[in-house]
Amino acid sequence: MSKRVLITGGAGFIGSHLTLYLLHRYPEYEVIVLDALTYAGNRANLREAEGNRRFHFLHADVRSRDAVQEAMQGVHMVVHLAAETHVDRSILNPDAFITTDVYGTFVMLEVARQVGVERFLHVSTDEVYGPAETAACAEDAPMRPTSPYAASKAGADLLAQAYHKTYHLPVLIVRPSNTFGPRQYPEKLIPFFVTRALNDLPLPLYGDGKQVRDWLYVADHVRALDIVLHKGQPGEVYNVAANNERTNLEITHKLLQILGKPEALIQFVQDRPAHDRRYALNTDKIRALGWQPQADFDTALRETVRWYVQNRDWWEPILQQQTEYRQFVEQWYGVRGQTVSGR
Ligand code: NAD
Ligand code: TYD
Repeated sequence: MSKRVLITGGAGFIGSHLTLYLLHRYPEYEVIVLDALTYAGNRANLREAEGNRRFHFLHADVRSRDAVQEAMQGVHMVVHLAAETHVDRSILNPDAFITTDVYGTFVMLEVARQVGVERFLHVSTDEVYGPAETAACAEDAPMRPTSPYAASKAGADLLAQAYHKTYHLPVLIVRPSNTFGPRQYPEKLIPFFVTRALNDLPLPLYGDGKQVRDWLYVADHVRALDIVLHKGQPGEVYNVAANNERTNLEITHKLLQILGKPEALIQFVQDRPAHDRRYALNTDKIRALGWQPQADFDTALRETVRWYVQNRDWWEPILQQQTEYRQFVEQWYGVRGQTVSGR
């Protein structure tokens, strides 16, 4: 059946993968991307969709009720991904996290309620749980966010739950773990380190580098969004992770090995404030819907690195644009700015 799907944040990393996936998988769907094209948004991420008559792009902000109202007319399903997403930026300057992640989500929910959409998939994050102490967090674990990013996402997550309980809006929530793959903005660990290593720049590992993240390949993440959107139970929350727990140090060693770069590039720097030691999720619920990860972690990591090696024209202009932020972060963490010789 023909459906109109609205994807917010579709010009970003995960949103662009989801847009291309839905257009391909559901030939009867129309996909509308609403994106403000912040520093993290990039029309080039949607190049493969341009020219497709079932694809529409709206340059708009989720904080603008008028724009969201216009975008949601005739829409059956919403996938809300638009957000400020980088923890370090949220520590440096939290304002946009509050306005976009919390208030922007409120606008999306409020308009969805008025329009009466069939499904509203809210993309939250595992970071809302805060650090996992021993056991993996199930969906009913308490939220203990520690960064302004995680706290703003927790606020959005709770609002989404409230809209289901109060107004019976058919809200579904996913809480995915750290995701990686092609087209991820080069400020997040994996693309940041790959692009820096390719330029022989030091790789700043925060603290002792023994923090653990559970890595999820973007193709598996997108299939999880598809399954929850179509098969999830409204009002329910679904964790998404692939059981690839690795320390940051292990990831860094692997990247250097794949790239054939020296260990001398590793630079231990001061720790991130309130740095969560480990994220770990129980994923029984989404697996019961029929989802399971397909990617082999090492293969997916090699593929991702290969994409960055082959697509310098995608990331080099980005690195030039963000020199101010880079300099700030380098100063803040005490990172060496100069290249490291001795390959
Ligand atoms: P991203 O930073 O790559 O992209 C975010 C997109 O949102 C960009 O295209 C940006 O232009 C757009 N945007 C930002 N503010 C906006 C606004 N006010 N109005 C409209 N558009 C706006 O993010 P991502 O990594 O693709 O993450 C997408 C979603 O998934 C986010 O909600 C994030 O919290 C969640 N998530 C990400 C990860 C991960 O590891 N990347 C893991 C779990 C959950
Ligand atoms: P990041 O990609 O920022 O994701 P998140 O903070 O949302 O998990 O960071 C992943 C891990 O890598 C996190 O433990 C912080 C660490 N990290 C570094 O050690 N150095 C860096 O330069 C960056 C960007 C991250």
